[in-house]
Amino acid sequence: MIPFNKASITDLEVKYVTDALLNSKSSGDGPYTLKVYEEFKKRFGIENMLLTTSGTTALEMAAILADLQPGDEVIVPSFTFSSTANSFMLRGAKPIFCDVRRDTMNMDENLIEGLITPKTKAIFPVDYAGIPCEMDTINEIAKKHGLLVIEDAAQAVGSRYKGRVAGTLAPFGCYSFHETKNYVMGEGGAIVINDASYLDRAEIIREKGTNRRQVLKGMVDKYTWHDIGSSFLPSDILAAIMYAQMQRFDEIMEKRMMVWNTYQTELVELENKEKLIRQFLPDNVEHNAHMYNIILPSDKIRTDLVAKLKEQGVYAYICYVPLHSSPLGKKLGYRPEQCPVTEDYGERVLRLPLYADMTKEDALKVVELVRDILTK
Ligand SMILES: Cc1ncc(COP(=O)(O)O)c(C=O)c1O
Repeated sequence: MIPFNKASITDLEVKYVTDALLNSKSSGDGPYTLKVYEEFKKRFGIENMLLTTSGTTALEMAAILADLQPGDEVIVPSFTFSSTANSFMLRGAKPIFCDVRRDTMNMDENLIEGLITPKTKAIFPVDYAGIPCEMDTINEIAKKHGLLVIEDAAQAVGSRYKGRVAGTLAPFGCYSFHETKNYVMGEGGAIVINDASYLDRAEIIREKGTNRRQVLKGMVDKYTWHDIGSSFLPSDILAAIMYAQMQRFDEIMEKRMMVWNTYQTELVELENKEKLIRQFLPDNVEHNAHMYNIILPSDKIRTDLVAKLKEQGVYAYICYVPLHSSPLGKKLGYRPEQCPVTEDYGERVLRLPLYADMTKEDALKVVELVRDILTK
């Protein structure tokens, strides 16, 4: 059996969790949370980040910080997870779906300006498959039109765009440390505050609208209600798992990269025979081996491949049902033809199994099965 995904957990995660449970504190902002921040600072130069209970709540915090209101419009790809759109729809803002590029499957930056209206307030690009968007262009457009950019880097921890690390490419970046991501804490995430002028408010929003964090920092001696907010901070027990994962950062990345590279090398023959298209990588990106996608000739071939792989104990999954043509998207009046490339890829993209503890033999077995099924 080759599962689709499996978190890589060792004695180190167990050791730190046990320590947090027995010797530390179980609520948020304890010593392990601070250690995680230090790791991100050391590795990526990130000065201001706040752990959250999920990638979803990191995005929700960003939408509050951006002051998004009912009536505002937000440009977002439809080829993403529901959380990207939910985060600002919870504030009453409306998604304006942008189609994706044929190559990266990321938001097509050339379509953004055509979607801007007087109501547009923000752009939420998504670094799909851990491949950062064309952020220089997106940031230029945002600057020209006075819009805020929130980078959904849920899948892109450790990736780089023109040498700059994903999550730091806009005023806010949002990471996910969900069990299906490269670095996990069960459920968890982080908001990276790249524009430090938002930091004080972010700390308050994350702590139920209070300035409790200033008490922890010794800046004030009692805390009170200052703003709206929620309970966005995770338990230090979960941060202990994340600290171990950060210490194993290179090991996890190298193992995932081995599987990714095996797929990329071994599937070239099938691409030459036009049986599939392999994952595309732009020159200006260093990716994090988060996902391996193949694009199949049709929905029918994809459905058949998924079923036949499953019969052999191999679990591959479709990625997204596009948001604009999902049940809610339809109810809200979006039409499939608004994002034709997304619609097409929604039917043909397939994610192959990929996790750090997968062996080369496992990856070769997947390739062999895909080859057999598609060439029969
Ligand atoms: C692009 C994207 N945004 C947001 C999220 C939400 O992250 P989480 O599952 O940690 O809430 C995910 C996770 O699946 C994602 O892939």
